Parts: sequence; structure tokens; C-alpha cells
Amino acid sequence: MANVTIQTRTTSRLPYDLSVIGLGTWQLGGDWGQVAAGTATEILSASADAGVSVFDTADVYGDGRSEQTIGAFLKQRQTGTSDRPAVFTKMGRRMDQVEQNYVLANFREWIDRSRRNLGVETLDLVQLHCPPTSVFSSDEVFDALDTLVAEQCIAAYGVSVETCDEALASIARPGVASVQIILNAFRQKPLDEVLPAAARAGVAIIARVPLASGLLSGRFNRSTTFSPDDHRQYNRHGEAFDVGETFAGVPYETGVDAAVRFSAIAAEAGISPAHLALRWIIDQPGVTTVIPGASTVEQARANAGAADVVPISQAARTAIKDLYDEQIRPLVHDRW
Ligand SMILES: NC(=O)c1ccc[n+]([C@@H]2O[C@H](COP(=O)([O-])OP(=O)(O)OC[C@H]3O[C@@H](n4cnc5c(N)ncnc54)[C@H](OP(=O)(O)O)[C@@H]3O)[C@@H](O)[C@H]2O)c1
Repeated sequence: MANVTIQTRTTSRLPYDLSVIGLGTWQLGGDWGQVAAGTATEILSASADAGVSVFDTADVYGDGRSEQTIGAFLKQRQTGTSDRPAVFTKMGRRMDQVEQNYVLANFREWIDRSRRNLGVETLDLVQLHCPPTSVFSSDEVFDALDTLVAEQCIAAYGVSVETCDEALASIARPGVASVQIILNAFRQKPLDEVLPAAARAGVAIIARVPLASGLLSGRFNRSTTFSPDDHRQYNRHGEAFDVGETFAGVPYETGVDAAVRFSAIAAEAGISPAHLALRWIIDQPGVTTVIPGASTVEQARANAGAADVVPISQAARTAIKDLYDEQIRPLVHDRW
């Protein structure tokens, strides 16, 4: 499908290679203000044409709208399984997040809905969508997921987690093929234990919220406003879901100030702040793919281009570490 290729990475637990830059599609469902249907399809198209081979979605993004848009896109392209982007969806947030709901019968229902939305027989990967902590120690949950792989309803499964402890518990489960976790210049804790453990186990690491919800692009200032239906407005203090998903949990004003310093490091390196943010992530050993969200075609194209940026210098890496240690670490490091 792609006109160009992006570097790919292989892990032993996933049955396919992943482009180092993927696409997050939360924006195509909702919670980020409005992205028009036509623009959503163009974002998918531009990303695939640029060599992106992973789309990340969830059954709750726009209550299925993100999945349906991807399904329509795949149909329109009329591609076979081997020459289309892999689609990673998530399940578990259409009901209360209590352990009793994480059972085979519910999994079947949620997966069947995603298969219909996406127009595929077998889901490439389904991720438990930030389940409650008790789920990670339930053998029954993971046995049920193994059953769905054996039945070929899903090719593989993973877990999207909030904390490093949850990531480590997931990696220890032999059937878990991927862990999705917040990892960016403002969220560096996964570097300590999670990435090495994933690399040892052959688990794919999917780095989400790589731009700290856009903060690391350096576009926002203290006066920037967001629309009322944008989580950067309504979830700034964790009112609707884990506050770590919004600006990576960094208080907005602190994040804006730190982003000014981050932009200066990017200027010194001669690249855009967004490219520095993405390249910094894909340079970390153990990262398989990074999934920036995009609300415009230009952003999608620019983000795919981060794969071509040369690895960043030691001086820039040190400057990013110092920035984190001095301005961000005390606020987030021990929280997730
Ligand atoms: N619990 C979970 O499993 C979970 C939670 C969160 C996210 N995710 C997944 O991770 C994906 C990525 O995370 P995210 O979308 O929350 O955060 P993100 O990728 O850190 O930030 C995305 C936002 O950054 C801005 N942006 C993107 N590319 C840009 C560029 N080249 N230049 C300037 N600004 C740019 C856009 O903001 P504007 O819209 O303001 O232009 C965009 O909406 C999501 O789409 C979703 O698939 C999963």
C-alpha cells in the first residue's frame, strides 16, 4: 500500500513487523474537538502513503467512529491483510472497569463489534484498555484471551497500561504480545525497567501520548484555549479519566514552560520540536513503535517524517534528561 517505506521493527511475540512511526486515531473518534470525517480519512490515507503500518484505535473512540472510519478506509483501498496497516484496537471501557466485566463472554461481544466496525475476520491485535489493577493478576482473564487467539478471533493481544508496575506484570504474562504505555520526554520512567524487560521478553512496546498531547510540539502557551469537547480542556485535572492521559499528567503551565526549553533543544539540533520528541522515543532501546495522534493531514505527514530524522546527539539527550530531572520528574515520576 505504501509509496514509501518506514523503518520497521520485529518482536518475537507479534506476528508482524511494525513501522517505527504509527498513527494514533483517538482524534478521529472524539475528545479532541471535531475532526471532520473527510479529514479523518485523509489522515489515514496520508499516513499509509507515507509508510505508516500501524493504526492504533479503540472501540470507545467516538463510540466506534474511529474504528468505522478505519474500516471504511481499508475497504476503499481494497487491500489484502498483508499489504495494509495493522490495526490495533482496544476493549474494556464500554462497561464499568471492574474485574467481573473482564470475562470471555464480554470479550467475544466487544471483539465481534470491533470486527464488524473494522470489516475484518480476525483483529490484528486487541489491547485491554487500561483495566483495573486486579485484572493483571487474574489468570482467567489471560486464559480467555488465549482462547480467542486459538479461535482466530484475534491474531494477538496486548495491554494498554497506566503504570510501570502494570507494564511489568503484563510483560510477565507469556501470551501478552504488546504493552502500550505513555512514554515521552516528559514521562521517562518506562526507561528504567519497562523497556529492558520488554526487550528481554520480546514484547512490543507501543509508546503513546508521545507529544504530551501536543505540548512537546511547542505550539501552546499559557493563553492557549481548547474547545469544551477537548480533553485538554475538560480532563486537565483528571475529571473524566486518568489525568496522566492529558498532557502526560504534567500541570499545564509547568508543561508550557518546560516545552519552551524543549523547543530550544530542538532549535539547537536543527529539527522541529515534534520531530525531536518522536525521534527521542524511537531512539530508546526497547521501543517498537510510537503512535502520535494527528488532527490534520500536515501533522500526520510531518510525524511520519520523524522516522527519517537522524538519531539525536548525546548533547541533546543529556539536555532532555536534565530538563526532565529538574522540571518534570518531581511531579510525575513516582506517580505512574
Ligand atoms: N489509554 C490508552 O490506551 C490511550 C490513551 C491516550 C492515547 N492513546 C493512543 O495514543 C495516541 C497518541 O496519543 P495522543 O493522541 O493522546 O497524544 P499525542 O500524540 O501526544 O498528541 C497528539 C496531538 O499533538 C498535536 N500534534 C500532533 N502532531 C503534531 C505535529 N507534527 N506538530 C504539531 N502538533 C502536533 C495535535 O494537537 P492538535 O489536535 O491541538 O493540533 C494532536 O492532536 C492516541 O491517538 C491513541 O491512539 C491511548
